[in-house]
Amino acid sequence: MAQEQTQNESNEKRVRLIRPSIVLLCGPAACGKSTFAERHFRPTQIISSDWARARVCDDERDQRFQAQAFALVHCLTEIRLGLNRLCVVDSTALTAHHRKEYLELAERFHVPCVVFLFDVPLEKCVERDRARHRTVGRPVIERQHLSFDQTRTDIRQERFGEIIEIRDADLDKVQIEIIFHPIAQPAGMPGWRPQGASRQTSRPWQQGTERGSAVRGAKPLPITPPPPPPAAQVKPEIRPPSATSKVPSAPVTGLSQAPNVAGSSAPVDPLLSPSQSATRTTPSETATPPAASHVKPDDQSHA
Ligand SMILES: Nc1ncnc2c1ncn2[C@@H]1O[C@H](COP(=O)(O)OP(=O)(O)OP(=O)(O)O)[C@@H](O)[C@H]1O
Ligand SMILES: [Mg+2]
Repeated sequence: MAQEQTQNESNEKRVRLIRPSIVLLCGPAACGKSTFAERHFRPTQIISSDWARARVCDDERDQRFQAQAFALVHCLTEIRLGLNRLCVVDSTALTAHHRKEYLELAERFHVPCVVFLFDVPLEKCVERDRARHRTVGRPVIERQHLSFDQTRTDIRQERFGEIIEIRDADLDKVQIEIIFHPIAQPAGMPGWRPQGASRQTSRPWQQGTERGSAVRGAKPLPITPPPPPPAAQVKPEIRPPSATSKVPSAPVTGLSQAPNVAGSSAPVDPLLSPSQSATRTTPSETATPPAASHVKPDDQSHA
């Protein structure tokens, strides 16, 4: 398998991911998905539905434009995969239909699709929700928690390359390593399309008026990536652990493509400048305070 989880003696959890790939975050509102993402990934690697809503309609809490927001999430994910980037999709991902879209996208690009399941007790989610500026309320969280229980069962039958369970205490215990394994295509070429791909793209946001149906009914963009590169082209790459992590640099065992993570010769992600690789702290909610609290009306609206 391309990515693995290991847990060492001090109970630290090391997760190895491939770039490019899709990483889906899955869990009810206020379980800590965005906090986790901010702690462990670069801001540009995170594609969040809240962010997309803000981009399309100026208000991340406005649930009327789900279709457009998810069209943006999907589109950006697709573009980034074509440029060999990691895509961390931050939404609740509580419906199989929603998850399937990303599984299919990953399959088309021949990249892994992994899911992080946030297993946080209901009362803790409610408590955290109450304490934050952008509250969604207990009823929404209760419904989403029920969906999450179902998801935990269903997701085993889905085609994820890896299911990574994140418990409450894992926020500081997880260490993410990213291995660069490019798909064969000219990254960074504006307008590049694989052979045979049409210039026309579908416009999911124009295909339906029912809330959410446009995205669900949308045909995937007609980009078919070329087959994966031969093994000789595989370039191992590792993202330096952030200074906030307490995990020591110990070699990960049992990985066929594992670089020497403990050695000084370990390749460094060329995307990270020295300053970027130094410290990543979790910005508090007060750093970007929302204007007012909105109640999210239902589970679907927060998919
Ligand atoms: N491990 C943690 N320990 C303590 N507090 C946490 C932890 N993770 C998140 N929080 C706090 O819980 C609140 C909710 O977290 P966050 O916004 O990341 O949840 P979310 O799953 O992204 O929610 P939503 O689905 O509504 O976007 C925040 O105020 C955050 O600071
Ligand atoms: Mg969030």
